[in-house]
Amino acid sequence: MIEWFPEINWMRSILTLLISTILLLYWYTRIPSSMPRNIPTVPIYISLLGLWSDMGQDTIYDRWLRQPLETHGAVKIWFAGRWNVLATRPRFLVDMFRHEDVYAKAGSQKKIPWSVIAALALERPNQRLEELQTIIKKTLFKPLFFNFPDLDRYPFLFRQRKAAFTIMQEFGDLLCTTVLQRTTHQKGTNQNPDGDQVVDYLDRALKENRITEEQYRANLKVTFLTAHENAQQLLNSTFWVLGTNQSIQQKLRAEILATGTENPTTDLVNSLPYLFAVILELLRLYPPVSQLINRVTTSQSVLGGEITIPNHTWVGWNAFGAHTDPNIWGNDCREFIPERWGSDVKSIQGAVRSKTTQCHFIAFNAHSRKCLGQGFAVLQVKILLFEMEEWEDLSEVQCMVFLN
Ligand code: HEM
Repeated sequence: MIEWFPEINWMRSILTLLISTILLLYWYTRIPSSMPRNIPTVPIYISLLGLWSDMGQDTIYDRWLRQPLETHGAVKIWFAGRWNVLATRPRFLVDMFRHEDVYAKAGSQKKIPWSVIAALALERPNQRLEELQTIIKKTLFKPLFFNFPDLDRYPFLFRQRKAAFTIMQEFGDLLCTTVLQRTTHQKGTNQNPDGDQVVDYLDRALKENRITEEQYRANLKVTFLTAHENAQQLLNSTFWVLGTNQSIQQKLRAEILATGTENPTTDLVNSLPYLFAVILELLRLYPPVSQLINRVTTSQSVLGGEITIPNHTWVGWNAFGAHTDPNIWGNDCREFIPERWGSDVKSIQGAVRSKTTQCHFIAFNAHSRKCLGQGFAVLQVKILLFEMEEWEDLSEVQCMVFLN
């Protein structure tokens, strides 16, 4: 009889540990009672799929998010260690984007200040910069730490996260040194000695004490990383679509060759409607920023007059969902049809303006906090596609080479 006691004690400890873990997990992942009740909840395991599956975001969206979002326009979803409100219905998006005072944009440095991703913005030439950029992109979006950013509080337990913080520091230092050491020639042009690049604006803001040194560094890092990343994503989908769709490629090529020049000036590329429409269609079906939850309510609010959201709740949007909702874009919304944007530059520009204002098209966001690099990014891709005019029947295989 006595021999059984240690065994019972041991089992009791295991049971206690198990129950405590379950209770802790329940407490950590429970939906706060103040969250809106008139929108559905996406089961938490959907957000965690990345931990064990390599299912694409589009597949996940189609299987689990499309139906509730197209029906209700918004859902409660687990992301970055908390429950958030995610919206796709244009009415909700217009309200969210127009009222920056209520749905205030706030980055990871506010949401999860201790995390690796926040190190992009908080403080704790060249090949190395690019290497670091690649490592950082892989590090930031590791599903385990992305969904449970609280784990980033304990870098001493996770050696890879400790290394990630070190890399962030090295990246910030190297980027700042590179920018500060750029030559006078690089700093400005003869026509504009003050310089008109993003970095020149930042320099002036720092010099005039409009921003702190910490904000200067944070802005440099975020601009460098995200501007590169988004443009790169757009190029990836460009190669994919052109490689798998010969008729679009040929039509585009014919438009470019018809210009009879090899010099892609800004005015020239901006005068080509099909080129513009192809890029917009790429941004619609493959939005580089497909989902973002980076706004926080500053008071209790009623999103779109329908969804009561408590103060200090994180809200966001899903561009892929808004761009592929048949209620907005029609039954052919999943097809790549550049012509839907219009047939001449003026009508295409009008379509972009109105679809952006109505939040049918949010690849660059809309209203007060829309992308500041939008024009530059589109111009970049227009020039690139023009320069590739010598491509003859770019095959799927060649596109895969570019992608790699
Ligand atoms: C295809 C390329 C790009 C896409 C799809 C894109 C998309 C976006 C989106 C969706 C936002 C809003 C983010 C939010 O709501 O927090 C944004 C913001 C911003 N983007 Fe871009 N972007 C691209 C390229 C660029 C480039 C090349 C630059 C700079 C050279 C740039 C600079 C900015 C800045 C400064 C903001 C912040 C605006 C603000 O918060 O007021 N972007 N971008």
